[in-house]
Amino acid sequence: MKRRVEVMHGVNLDMLDRRPSEHYGRLSLTELEVRAKHFAAEMGFETSFSQTNHEGEFCELLHRAPEMADGLLLNPGAWTHYSYAIRDALEVAGLPAVEVHLSAVDEREDWRGKSVIRDLCVGTVSGKGVDGYRDALELLKGSLS
Ligand code: DQA
Repeated sequence: MKRRVEVMHGVNLDMLDRRPSEHYGRLSLTELEVRAKHFAAEMGFETSFSQTNHEGEFCELLHRAPEMADGLLLNPGAWTHYSYAIRDALEVAGLPAVEVHLSAVDEREDWRGKSVIRDLCVGTVSGKGVDGYRDALELLKGSLS
């Protein structure tokens, strides 16, 4: 049976093509999702995608994640750096998860260097743009097999 991956985007990621291109590139979220779906299909994964600007909704998606997926790719956007609610919900989900960021969060403002979810994740990929999603799927594959 195919492994199912839920790719979850958080706050402001729906605005990707209107954000600074030096950090985020020029793709829209829809275009990014098409690329990520392609990477995942090459690795034999089935994928589904979600995005919300509402923290509680992101938490509820995490609560339901075990019914929908075997593993998670998470880009919570700015919530990464301070949302203990999302951290706790990820713990509830209990699924292998990889944290992914388009931009090099460790090389930007100090506050972006902190992630409150990192230690719950099997790995982190940042600063590689959309190709980082392929690397993140590779990491997830390692922890699912
Ligand atoms: C981001 C990095 C975060 O610091 C930022 O708040 C985002 C996007 C990234 O993909 O590089 O919204 O998660």
